[in-house]
Amino acid sequence: ERQSSKEMEQRKGRRLVLFPLPLQGHINPMLHLANILHSRGYSITIIHTNFNSPDPSNYPHFTFHFFSENLPEDGTCATDLIAFLSLLNTRCGPPFRHCLANLLSETSEEPVACLISDAILYFTQEVANELKLPRLVLRTGAASSFCVFTAFPLLKERGYIPIQDSRLEEPVVELPPLRVKDLPVIDTPDPVDLYRVVAGMVNQGKASSGLIWNTFEELEQSALETLDRQLGVPLFPIGPFHKCFPVSKSSLSPQDESCISWLDKQERKSVIYVSFGSLAAVNETEFLEIAWGLANSKQPFLWVVRPGLIRGSEWLEPLPNGFLETLGGRGHVVKWAPQQQVLAHSAVGAFWTHNGWNSTLESMCEGIPMICMPCFTDQRVNARYVSEIWRVGVQLEKGMERGEIERTIKRLMVEKDGEEIRERVLHLKEKAALCLSQGGSSRHSLDRLVHHISSLES
Ligand code: UDX
Repeated sequence: ERQSSKEMEQRKGRRLVLFPLPLQGHINPMLHLANILHSRGYSITIIHTNFNSPDPSNYPHFTFHFFSENLPEDGTCATDLIAFLSLLNTRCGPPFRHCLANLLSETSEEPVACLISDAILYFTQEVANELKLPRLVLRTGAASSFCVFTAFPLLKERGYIPIQDSRLEEPVVELPPLRVKDLPVIDTPDPVDLYRVVAGMVNQGKASSGLIWNTFEELEQSALETLDRQLGVPLFPIGPFHKCFPVSKSSLSPQDESCISWLDKQERKSVIYVSFGSLAAVNETEFLEIAWGLANSKQPFLWVVRPGLIRGSEWLEPLPNGFLETLGGRGHVVKWAPQQQVLAHSAVGAFWTHNGWNSTLESMCEGIPMICMPCFTDQRVNARYVSEIWRVGVQLEKGMERGEIERTIKRLMVEKDGEEIRERVLHLKEKAALCLSQGGSSRHSLDRLVHHISSLES
């Protein structure tokens, strides 16, 4: 204890600059990481784009600097995720450099130890080099999906990508248990953009001073070992982040608190929580299949229908008139939920998710089994690992069809068949808690990270 308070004292006056990718699923883990490092004695500065900025008043202990990201206003960024990521990397260099250089000249009393940027903001490696500042990387996704991204050159060479529809069910023999349809791609007008972003993320990760992961060794040991060999820089799996600071304040949309009072009225483990994260979208037919599948399952459901979830609709217009009323309170629909509190609520028995990495990890940490319905990129790999490697969920394999949805919900939540899955995820919850406790693997990695940061300065 005495030793650690001495070390805290030494770190006082050391500042870390953190730069998140401005999307909800990336802002949340970066701000959690900021809290974790702050608790270890560092001062924290967050550099952020004006776009999607979190509310600084929720983080009075951090300093914020915003810059204008200089993106085209022709709608490309709103409709094409990969073009958006690519443009961030090509357009943000000058304003980010300006912001960081100012900051470095201002804070001479509190020297900046390093930059920590999201892996997808790979342009920051060059800026850091120019300013002679070490750069660490936060990868907000799983190590397992990152292994697939590092294999992109091989996957292209062997003809797996671009994906051909006729080969979707074929196994990718080099990366079991993935099938061609599990590869982390996305529909984009120009696949070259995707390849550029993936290559940038991987190569500039290798060029960095180390990668921080929101995962834990017991969950992804084999992927972490592979990456350790491939990347040649130190890796720090220090997750699950959100369990270090349970209350998240980085939500960009207001979280509907009525979820909790509604859950309070439901029976233990009876509710299926349904949410597809901040980016995924479905068409109207799929939306109606989901609605009928939920209604027919007879289980109570809490459903996040984000404005924008249904392509071409504002919000719930496609639902038949009186749909929710006829369920007599069995279904509760909100625009955005306090997800971590929802998953921790004793009434929740399953999570129907798109398997964004944050959602996947949040579900595991509360011992909630998953119905997996991945939409794009890493979500597909996560879903396959959830159902086939960790075996704490089942994947909807036939798309969105009300009969399959109803059967899957019953299997996972009620039937004997799902019992092993329910038990396994509770076991995983214990492992996740253990790794953060005294002597646990993530605590150990965090100590290593703190020492590594000190060594970068000398
Ligand atoms: C994106 C990508 O889609 C995903 O593939 C990648 O792994 C991370 O970035 P997103 O789709 O938003 O993320 O999903 P996810 O990673 O699950 O993150 C969503 C976050 O928003 C979670 O932390 C979740 O707790 C929070 N959330 C979600 C809410 O607070 N309320 C909601 O109603 C839904």
